[in-house]
Amino acid sequence: MSTGINGKIGPMVCRMMGLILMALIGIGSEPGVASTPGMITLEGHTIPDIGPLPTAVPAPPTNLNYAAKISLGKQLYFDGRLSQNNAISCAFCHNPVAGFADPNQTSVGVGGKRGGRQAPTVYNTAFNPFQFWDGRAGSLEEQAIGPIHNPIEMAETHENVVVKLSKIKGYQEQFQSALGTGVNIQGIAEAIAAFERTIISTNSAFDKFVLGDPDAMGEDAQRGMAVFKGKGRCILCHNGSNFTDNQFHNLGVPQVGPMEEDLGRYYVTLRESDKGAFKTPTLRSIIESAPYMHDGVFKTLEEVVDFFDKGGNANPQLSPLMKPLGLAPQEKTDLIAFLKALTGESIPFEFPKLPE
Ligand code: HEC
Ligand code: HEC
Repeated sequence: MSTGINGKIGPMVCRMMGLILMALIGIGSEPGVASTPGMITLEGHTIPDIGPLPTAVPAPPTNLNYAAKISLGKQLYFDGRLSQNNAISCAFCHNPVAGFADPNQTSVGVGGKRGGRQAPTVYNTAFNPFQFWDGRAGSLEEQAIGPIHNPIEMAETHENVVVKLSKIKGYQEQFQSALGTGVNIQGIAEAIAAFERTIISTNSAFDKFVLGDPDAMGEDAQRGMAVFKGKGRCILCHNGSNFTDNQFHNLGVPQVGPMEEDLGRYYVTLRESDKGAFKTPTLRSIIESAPYMHDGVFKTLEEVVDFFDKGGNANPQLSPLMKPLGLAPQEKTDLIAFLKALTGESIPFEFPKLPE
């Protein structure tokens, strides 16, 4: 299950080199230019500025996207037959009408079994170097087949799911035409991942504003952006075009739900300092995917902002980047107006017709 730190070094080094290069040549530092965000400095930390997403969605060379594969992946994403009781699809917990996430505090899978973590959004997971709150999966391909045999999610074996789908003529034909093979687990993973790479939250009011439309974002959201990048210090972790540093931090989020204690990133690295650290999530379209945090402890953005305002909860591994903010009530409301301005353009969505 663990991908350890080996999977991490490559992308990290690449990202750092990219950032250094960007800093040297000063890409994107001019307002109104559609390019990768430049670097800014806050309290001595030099970090990527927030800005528009790149238009090209990254995909591995081994799984290039094309229409037939995406269409197959979309059907699989909505198909309960990937689960043991034929009722729990990916969309059951990553629901398009709930920001591709789960409005429940923690998800209920096959047979009513409840997991210990909140289902994160699938929006922009294409940009994640790590999947899951603890980052234990690297690619979307690797992630996609996990839930199928997870006993508290879809609870089905990979062998059974392949047998079941092979009996469905429409799938047989589509696997042949889209992937050139019969139904197999690798093909299921690739098709679902290809579909997920089309679930992108972008073109928000914020994007339009930074691309030069001064009317795209209200004055409250504009003031909120200043809080986000300044006194609120949110940008220390939620930075770059996807509003995440793709790192893991301990904020001292109160642990609720079925898990007594969740050590997060520690399960992957076994490093003491990673106890209780979780992945910084994207904030794009964040208003759609309540409740919040790895255990869904906060129901509203107001609760989240109050939590950051008091500097999180003291504990031995609390991130040194956390400290009390002393935000005024107006600054809090402005900050929330800004978070709402990160809502992406709605994706026209139709539930796919599933093959009989
Ligand atoms: C029973 C609910 C449930 C089902 C069904 C389910 N998921 Fe999830 N999903 C979760 C939860 C909970 C997590 C977070 C788990 C963790 O971090 O340990 C998650 C995490 C993810 C992530 C990682 C996102 C991120 O930002 O780290 C992706 C991607 C994902 N699921 C896609 C899928 C796909 C594709 C399917 C179908 C094959 C699926 N899920 C089925 C509940 C579910
Ligand atoms: C030290 C790094 C750090 C700072 C600073 C920070 N965040 Fe976060 N943020 C995180 C991490 C990590 C999580 C997930 C924590 C968890 O679930 O245990 C998170 C979670 C969130 C969530 C919930 C997202 C979801 O999908 O559940 C929101 C909203 C949020 N942060 C907004 C903010 C705002 C607004 C600020 C500034 C006031 C801020 N953050 C400052 C790291 C940070």
